[in-house]
Amino acid sequence: MDAKKAPVEDWTTDFDHTHPDYAANAHQIWDDLREECPIAHSDRFGGMWMPTRHEDIAAIAANKDGLYTSRGVVVSEVRPDIPAPIGYAPPITSDPPFHAPARKLLLGPFAPRKVQALEPFTREYCHSLVDAALETSNEQGWFDAAIGYSQNIPVKVIAQMLGLPAEDGPVFRRFIHNIIENPVQREIPEEETVEWYFDQQIAKRKANPKPPGEGDLIDHLLNVEIFGEALAPEHVRGTVVLLLVAGIDTTWSSIGSAIWHLAQHPNDLARFRDDPEVRPFAVEEFLRAYAPVTMARMVAEDHELQGCPMKKDDWLLLPFPAGNRDPEAFEDADKFVIDRQKNRHGAFGLGIHRCLGSNLARMELSVALDVFVDRIRDFSLVDPANVRFSTGQIRGPRELPVSVKTNV
Ligand code: HEM
Repeated sequence: MDAKKAPVEDWTTDFDHTHPDYAANAHQIWDDLREECPIAHSDRFGGMWMPTRHEDIAAIAANKDGLYTSRGVVVSEVRPDIPAPIGYAPPITSDPPFHAPARKLLLGPFAPRKVQALEPFTREYCHSLVDAALETSNEQGWFDAAIGYSQNIPVKVIAQMLGLPAEDGPVFRRFIHNIIENPVQREIPEEETVEWYFDQQIAKRKANPKPPGEGDLIDHLLNVEIFGEALAPEHVRGTVVLLLVAGIDTTWSSIGSAIWHLAQHPNDLARFRDDPEVRPFAVEEFLRAYAPVTMARMVAEDHELQGCPMKKDDWLLLPFPAGNRDPEAFEDADKFVIDRQKNRHGAFGLGIHRCLGSNLARMELSVALDVFVDRIRDFSLVDPANVRFSTGQIRGPRELPVSVKTNV
């Protein structure tokens, strides 16, 4: 528990998404807020709002009247001062009209065919992780499915796409911790910043340029154009940072939450293991019920929303996971229904910034669960009290001790 965090007395007027109590009780907090005060407010982080109904979240994400900006998408004590239209990490920090062409540059590398080509590599890697996990389990009687399994998979895959050394995985996780999980202002030596790391990577590729269509995703960004010109250096770097951050923490959390659920629900585990046809439905239900990503916006101009006085530069959290649990939008919203048929969830977002990596995320989640469950056929939590969920805008287990009952 973070001793510096003031306790939250009332979630309707003083919520804090970085508080350990929020990490531990998010589902209950959203349910209570939806009933009592569907758009909550807090003075923390200089003022922020949080809608909890699916309809409100969808309307704000759609942003028809341009009342919100994506200039800032991770809530922090200071307001971002990086100039528009690129922002810190395009396209997620870009607003229209720059957003659409910046997004289009990435559609090719994340197309289904490209993602499918990464499947065998991902599967093989998952098997190697299970081999190592089973060895650990034989030695000590349990292993950590977050540290030993889920956190490694997206790191390996995105490092492959970006052409980065896989052994830099711990460095990437530190960047993510600093950007997402622990967004406070702090002094970091220049060589330890994500910006410095990628400046070196970009300089290396500029010194040895590849023809269009060859090389990795960073080479791709150095070859494409926007409005007839090469991308600005801060655009290339910002997009690479985004892909690293957006690709790792999110998918790692989804894989971990799914394992966490299966470890506690033997009937769902048996159905997933024994009925291959249910697996695609189960994957969508994991994404709905345990959606990991809450994104932020900033208020672009003063206005009132359902009686709430929104002031320019207030933060606005968009908890897509809360929308996914709204009983107005989903039948039995609070239940995990492994073969749910109607499931138009918002785990990947609902507006123009809808996840560009959703094909990749689905592939990684499906392969990770296939391999885990096919190999470790029966497993449970060592102790629910030993599971630790992340704090902040990406929700998922960071420590997940699991004991193996049967395996092949
Ligand atoms: C289960 C895993 C994932 C989830 C739940 C997820 C969720 C999301 C959500 C909710 C957004 C929308 C944000 C908003 O409206 O502001 C988003 C955007 C984005 N995601 Fe994902 N994501 C996942 C994995 C990935 C992966 C693997 C990548 C690529 C490596 C990726 C790349 C992106 C990008 C580039 C955007 C910005 C799109 C834009 O601004 O137009 N995501 N993601």
